[in-house]
Amino acid sequence: AKESNEKSNMDSVNIEDHSLINLHSILISLFSNAIKKAYPTLEDIGQPAVSAGSKFADYQCNASMQICKLLKAKGENVSPNAVAKKVVECLGQCDIIEKVDVSGPGFINVWLSRNKLREILQYVLENKLKPKPLTNPQRVIIDFSSPNVAKEMHVGHLRSTIIGDSLSRVFEFIGHDVLRLNHIGDWGTQFGMLIALLQDKFPDYKTVSPPINDLQEFYKQSKVLFDSDPEFKKRAYDCVVKLQSMSPDHVQAWKLICDVSREEFQKIYKRLNINIIERGESFYQSRMENVVKELENKGFLENDDGRKIMWSPESSIPLTIVKSDGGFTYDTSDMAALKQRIEEEKADRIIYVTDSGQSVHFETLKKCAIHCGILDPSKVLMDFVGFGVVLGEDKKKFKTRSGDTVRLVGLLDEGVKRARDKLVEKGRDKVLTDEELELAETAVAYGCIKYADLCHNRSHDYIFSFDKMLEDKGNTAVYLLYALTRIRSIINNLGTHTQDLNEPISLDHEKEWKLAKTLLRFSEVLSKITEDFCLHHLCEYLYDVATTFNEFYDNCYCIEKNSQTGEIEKVYTGRILLCKITAEYMNTGLTLLGINTVSRM
Ligand code: ARG
Repeated sequence: AKESNEKSNMDSVNIEDHSLINLHSILISLFSNAIKKAYPTLEDIGQPAVSAGSKFADYQCNASMQICKLLKAKGENVSPNAVAKKVVECLGQCDIIEKVDVSGPGFINVWLSRNKLREILQYVLENKLKPKPLTNPQRVIIDFSSPNVAKEMHVGHLRSTIIGDSLSRVFEFIGHDVLRLNHIGDWGTQFGMLIALLQDKFPDYKTVSPPINDLQEFYKQSKVLFDSDPEFKKRAYDCVVKLQSMSPDHVQAWKLICDVSREEFQKIYKRLNINIIERGESFYQSRMENVVKELENKGFLENDDGRKIMWSPESSIPLTIVKSDGGFTYDTSDMAALKQRIEEEKADRIIYVTDSGQSVHFETLKKCAIHCGILDPSKVLMDFVGFGVVLGEDKKKFKTRSGDTVRLVGLLDEGVKRARDKLVEKGRDKVLTDEELELAETAVAYGCIKYADLCHNRSHDYIFSFDKMLEDKGNTAVYLLYALTRIRSIINNLGTHTQDLNEPISLDHEKEWKLAKTLLRFSEVLSKITEDFCLHHLCEYLYDVATTFNEFYDNCYCIEKNSQTGEIEKVYTGRILLCKITAEYMNTGLTLLGINTVSRM
């Protein structure tokens, strides 16, 4: 009777409300409350250190030493062990915890409740990993990819595309309202040159499609003329002015040029399954005019040798808002875009994904926007997500042998070819249907390229190597894709033995328990990503899940077969359920990385 009485006193974690239970953050808040209760006079110690998975416990809280030091400073001498005991006494009850104890030097060990974890996993099994819609979803704008018209989309844009897409997927999955924006460079002086050349060379461009498939070549030609022929230069400037005032002919020519680029970009997005809305710099033309007026009227612009610049007290360099020829710049369009996103799009958070080389630009933009009142940082978050350079295997900037930028379409083609060669090398072409082989080779190729990018800390440079990324051992997409197909085939090979899956999920074996705890770190990993925008946490998690699953599978029979006939004799249902749940977590995780999974490969 006493026991049931105690149970009803426990705080229960309501699974209906939390399909994504974050055990780590629950423990942090329990300990944080306990510390406040035990030492009410102590100043806030911040988040107590709680870590997962030691040999001695499921979770451990190591805050005692820190508390001791703070107490000592107040003249109180207590041992860490005594502190830990007092904190444990004040710990509210919670049904995810089975037991708590204190080890020698004041570590607080926590053992989780198997029943509770089983209940959570059962919920995932029945409902899949679909978080409940948030009561307060944020409007999150993610500005990524953003290549430039008439210039080649390069590996830097590929990184932005891959990281931005995956971040968008994570925020969408959690339940935020995400707007994915492609801030392409489709405006500015260079379009004057391009239009002038188009008018010269293909005066009937409106009725006949001009051969400008190689826009880069076209761009080079116009640049040569611009620099050598004053007459052309004058006309190019003229074209910019006409374009900016929306003269129909010029707009038509400009559209044509953008279309050619767009077609190229689209090929990449289609193959990599990227969803993004194009809203280039041109979209902001009238808004730039307005923002310049606003800044001018409010006295934020300063004349600098004919340019109009803008400072903030905190920034080391100014923004150039108007050039001496009256034209607008990258800074102007970003300021106008920021204002539009806050005022018209009602953004709660704006995230920019570009190479780290642009960090100063965005820092300056942020400081100036705060300074002039366009951005109120207490209402709208503005985050810069930078990333390192892509290097070739020679550790130099990734280029072709002749020193040109690597064409992305060609890169993807090579990936697919190499993935196919690998599969054929393994004899998979003899086992899979043509259709399966094709699905497998693209899943492997694009999966590898994305994973190789995402599994490194984004701020580091990384070496692009097909050989490395196509390895089937170690932390690669191939390894994970194989692990998942293997789990799926365990489940699929049950045939008629699957009728009764009503047994409880098996968590008694040490390896089963380890797998369950590993799986349940998912939510913790996602919330970390929303804080530091580092997707390698998710890659590491998935790799951890795959290796922990292998340990489980090597140690725990899921199926027993007759050694002579190969017939299934016994099915350990509780373990098969664990396989299914693992597949669900892995599939969801890979999907968030933008990686397509396959059932056979
Ligand atoms: N077009 C730029 C580039 O290629 C990236 C744009 C990033 N987004 C932005 N709002 N500035 O470097």
